[in-house]
Amino acid sequence: MRQAVPVPGDPHDDEPGGQAAETVRQLQALATPAGGAALTRARELLAGRADAVTALTRLRAEVGVELAGPAWGIARQRERARPVFGADADRLFFTADALEQAGRPVLADRRAARLLAGGVRSVVDLGCAAGTDTIALARAGATVVAVDLDPVARELTRLNTAASGLPGVEVRDADAVQLVAAASEGRVAGCDAAVLDPARRAGGRRQLDPDRWSPKWSTVQALLDAVPTCLVKVAPGLDHDRVPAGVEAEWVSMGGSIVEALLWGRAPSRTWRRATVIDRDGGVHELTADADPGDAEPGPVRGWLHEPDPAVIRSGLVSLAAAELDATLVDPTIAYLTSDAAADSPWVSSYRVSEVLPFNLKKLKALLRARGIGRVVVKKRGSPIEPEALARQLRGPGEGSAVVVVTRVAGAPTVLVCDPS
Ligand SMILES: C[S@@+](CC[C@H](N)C(=O)[O-])C[C@H]1O[C@@H](n2cnc3c(N)ncnc32)[C@H](O)[C@@H]1O
Repeated sequence: MRQAVPVPGDPHDDEPGGQAAETVRQLQALATPAGGAALTRARELLAGRADAVTALTRLRAEVGVELAGPAWGIARQRERARPVFGADADRLFFTADALEQAGRPVLADRRAARLLAGGVRSVVDLGCAAGTDTIALARAGATVVAVDLDPVARELTRLNTAASGLPGVEVRDADAVQLVAAASEGRVAGCDAAVLDPARRAGGRRQLDPDRWSPKWSTVQALLDAVPTCLVKVAPGLDHDRVPAGVEAEWVSMGGSIVEALLWGRAPSRTWRRATVIDRDGGVHELTADADPGDAEPGPVRGWLHEPDPAVIRSGLVSLAAAELDATLVDPTIAYLTSDAAADSPWVSSYRVSEVLPFNLKKLKALLRARGIGRVVVKKRGSPIEPEALARQLRGPGEGSAVVVVTRVAGAPTVLVCDPS
């Protein structure tokens, strides 16, 4: 299927015969029994690992030219979606663009549960894309109005809510900017709560500047000001200075990587900042501060180095983790902690330090050779080195392994050689 989804607001979005109209038509064809059969066959051919040309030729011969291309396109997106959406992927519809923008269902469920906890019954999803948030909110029991400027997104949401057994969702062609501007008595589109997940990509590139998101930052701000029960998904790199007073900002990590950043409206807000760390076993750990806890104190490198989880760093809560671990910063400007003892803590990964030396490639290589270390994982913070390139340079015949941390200690470029954890 043709994957290009028009930029929201693009005037040709709704043109009959335009790209979007054609994609909508193809999606509707796939929702028929014949389309379903074509999708099943496309999945089988994909699973058979035949090359794309051969598989598509067979598919065309078996299900017809009209359905073959669209079915192949959706089957490929379902395959990409499976690691995150699990078995649900096989009944959902995505374009490449919508899948790129989709959040993780497990996180959407978590957000929906918190937003609805205060007795919220209806929610407007301002920019529904393929409907991940809409589905989570409807499954959690809310009546949902899902809006999007993009006709393809609206069709995906219609199909995906129906496929999820949630036919009661209302899907509307509306501009989130106008709906937020028209908010009245703390409600948007007459709903008790609002969810806004601005598009933060354009032309395949991440838009770092919130004034270039769609809707722009001004709409995020207007929503947070006008609607107490709301939730906005933002970029993890959002500047703390942008977070309005009374709004809780939460950074969430999974398996050591940031997966989302959220601004909670003034009604569901419970604290100033929250770092939520979801560990590899699915355990959820939350670190919160009701006011800025300030920076941790620096101190000399001790027997253990602790690398804070990115959610702890981004939320500005490193000093809380430091206090729990009786740890200090290796440098006032670097988020590595050090202490005398190992830490069993969700907030950090810990490494025993075996050597501390000024950064010097020749001396580092000699040291590793002398210790029989041939394989290293390089970590860095506050250094311009390329970790993978340095790891290759440090590879040697030795059987041993180490974690090499390149950073600054009290302002000086320094290497910490650590035992693997
Ligand atoms: C990041 S996606 C939403 C993803 C969705 N929450 C999910 O998890 O699948 C943003 C969506 O907002 C839509 N959008 C952007 N600007 C909009 C506007 N002014 N009004 C309505 N929808 C808009 C885009 O078309 C896109 O589908």
